[in-house]
Amino acid sequence: MKRLAILGSTGSIGQSTLSIVEQFPDRYSVATLAAGRNIDEAFTQAERWRPRVVSMATEELASYLEGRLRTARLDGIEVVHGTAGTVACATHNEADFVVSAIVGVAGLEATHAAILANKPIGLANKECMVAAGEILTAAARERNVPILPIDSEHNAVHQCMRVGAHGEVKTIWLTASGGPFRKTPLEEFEHITPAQALKHPTWVMGQRITIDSATMLNKGLEVIEACRLFDVPPSKVRVTVHPQSTVHSLVEFVDGSILAQISVTDMRLPILYALAYPERPASSLTFDLAALRHLDFEEPDFERFPCLRLAFEAAEKGGAHCIALNAADEVAVDAFLKGHISFNGIPRTIEQVLAATPEAHPATIAEVLAADQQAREQARARVAGS
Ligand SMILES: NC(=O)c1ccc[n+]([C@@H]2O[C@H](COP(=O)([O-])OP(=O)(O)OC[C@H]3O[C@@H](n4cnc5c(N)ncnc54)[C@H](OP(=O)(O)O)[C@@H]3O)[C@@H](O)[C@H]2O)c1
Repeated sequence: MKRLAILGSTGSIGQSTLSIVEQFPDRYSVATLAAGRNIDEAFTQAERWRPRVVSMATEELASYLEGRLRTARLDGIEVVHGTAGTVACATHNEADFVVSAIVGVAGLEATHAAILANKPIGLANKECMVAAGEILTAAARERNVPILPIDSEHNAVHQCMRVGAHGEVKTIWLTASGGPFRKTPLEEFEHITPAQALKHPTWVMGQRITIDSATMLNKGLEVIEACRLFDVPPSKVRVTVHPQSTVHSLVEFVDGSILAQISVTDMRLPILYALAYPERPASSLTFDLAALRHLDFEEPDFERFPCLRLAFEAAEKGGAHCIALNAADEVAVDAFLKGHISFNGIPRTIEQVLAATPEAHPATIAEVLAADQQAREQARARVAGS
C-alpha cells in the first residue's frame, strides 16, 4: 500500500489523483492533503479520505475548516496552513509518495522539502521545476529520489526513454495541441477574451495552464522542465504542433528511431504511471486505435506565439531568466483574466520583465523565491503601466 501526500488536492490534477486512489484502493491510500482556498472541496475530501493532516492556504481558512470538521465530529485530522502546512503534508512520516500538484511557485518549498525527506515525487507542478529545477534535480540525484513526471508530455518522454540509454537520445520532441488560436488571424489576437482563451480544444485543466496553453507559454515551460528532468540542453528539445493531442511526445534516438507514446487524453493515465512506476497496473483507460484517422505534425509559429520564443531564450540563459519567465507570466495571466491587459499584453509583459532581468543563478530556494518576488514586482509595475 502506497500512502500519498497530495499537494493541490482540490485542483484538477489533485482530484484526478483521488479518482485513481478510488479505483485502486488496494494499492493507494491518502496520508495528507494540501489545498489552497477551496474550503468546501477540502472538507468533502477530508470527510471522504480521513487524512492525517489537511493544509489550507491561510490560517483563517484552516480554523474555519477545523470548526467544520469538529461540528461534523471528524476527529483526528490535524489542520495546518500556509507554506509550513504544505511542507508538513509533504514530509509527513506516514506519506510514502508525494504528488506535487499545487499551481505555481506556491508548491516549491514543499516539493523541495519532500525531496530532502527522501519522498519519491509525482511531479505535475512544472512551475517549480522551471524556477528551481537545477536545485531540485541536484537534491534528488544526490539522494536517489525519483521524480516521476505527471505532465503528459514528460510522462510520455519518460516512457520512451525507458528503451534507450541517455547518451543515445538525439532529440526530445514535445507535442503541443497549438491551443484554440492556432488558426486565428494575427490581427484578432489583441481582442481575444478570457472566455475564448479558457476553451482548450483537447484538455480540461486549471485556469493558468489553460491560458498558458493558448499563448503556448505552457509549451515553453515544458521545454525548460524537459531540460531539467531529462538532463539535456535546450538544443536537444523541440516542439511540434500536433492538434489531435494523441501522441503525447516522442523521443528520437541517434540511430534514427523515433519512439512515440499514444494514449487517451486523460491525465489519470500519466498519474497512474507515476504512482505505479515501474509497474503498469491494468486500467480502463483504453485508446481506440481504429478511431485514429490522422496524425498531423507542424512546425510551431514563433511569430504567432512569441511566448514560445521567449521561453527558448530563457531556457538558454537558465537561472534568473527561467524564474522571471514563470513569475512574469503568472502575474500577466492573472491580469489578463481580470481584464487589466489584453491577450497580447501577456507576451509583452514577459518580454519587458526578461529584458530587465540580469543574468544570475540562484543557488538556494530562498534565492529563487527572492528572484521570483523581484520579477513579480517588475511584472506588476508593467501591468499597472499598460
Ligand atoms: N490540469 C492538467 O491537466 C495539468 C497537466 C499537466 C500539468 N499540470 C500542472 O499541474 C499543476 C496543477 O494544475 P491544475 O490544472 O490541477 O491546477 P488547478 O486546478 O488550478 O489546481 C491548483 C491547485 O493548487 C492549489 N493551490 C493554489 N495556491 C495554493 C497555495 N498558495 N497553497 C496551497 N495550495 C494552493 C489549489 O487549491 P484551491 O483550489 O483549494 O485554491 C488547487 O488545489 C500546475 O503546475 C499545472 O501546470 C496540470
